[in-house]
Amino acid sequence: MGYYKKFNEINPGKLNIKINSALYTKRLTERQKSKVSKCIELYAGKGLLTSKYKEIFTEVITVDKADYDNVQYQMTAEEFIKSELKNHIVFLYIDFDDEGCPGKELRLFFEKIKGVKKEPFIISITGTSLNRLADHSYSKLRKYPSSDYYRYNKLLSRFMEDICEANGFTCTEIFNKRREQGTTVYASYKIEETGMQCKGTNGLS
Ligand SMILES: C[S@@+](CC[C@H](N)C(=O)[O-])C[C@H]1O[C@@H](n2cnc3c(N)ncnc32)[C@H](O)[C@@H]1O
Repeated sequence: MGYYKKFNEINPGKLNIKINSALYTKRLTERQKSKVSKCIELYAGKGLLTSKYKEIFTEVITVDKADYDNVQYQMTAEEFIKSELKNHIVFLYIDFDDEGCPGKELRLFFEKIKGVKKEPFIISITGTSLNRLADHSYSKLRKYPSSDYYRYNKLLSRFMEDICEANGFTCTEIFNKRREQGTTVYASYKIEETGMQCKGTNGLS
């Protein structure tokens, strides 16, 4: 068990990226003159990040498959995206704070918001085993062996460009950093609708 898990703390590098990514939404809010400030936190767990997000956002929606006190929607991220996301579409910030590879969920998410989410937003992503992202890309990204984990940052960026473009969005990287020891990547992107939709299928209904 790692030091931070053992002492129930958030890795300082991760915390720095998550908080600064969340604060980035203030720029979007000012530009839009919007009072809505909704955060969706997928994989919210027992709420180490939730308490920080509540200092920044007026509303934090928490989702986790496990039954923690902190959790409002006890379901998988996939189930939330399929059935509940449409009720929270005014979000400004969404966090995929996964322990594994959220490739399937990210692709589903962009297919669901395609043509529906008009305002820019910030997406924050945590992932490990990111070589599996390639399985969920539209344009068959190259798969790297786990020994090439130092390439996972780049793979995530290519994946994001791929799924955004396919669903009519652009992504601008804000942070993209691999944890000092290990394979975990923390990244965030500003997402804007382009209005051009190339591939993908669903859309919220
Ligand atoms: C890295 S922790 C999240 C930590 C949390 N964000 C925090 O700051 O305390 C991962 C969490 O993801 C949850 N989880 C794992 N797979 C999931 C899934 N498919 N859908 C929703 N939650 C999931 C686990 O139950 C666990 O609580």
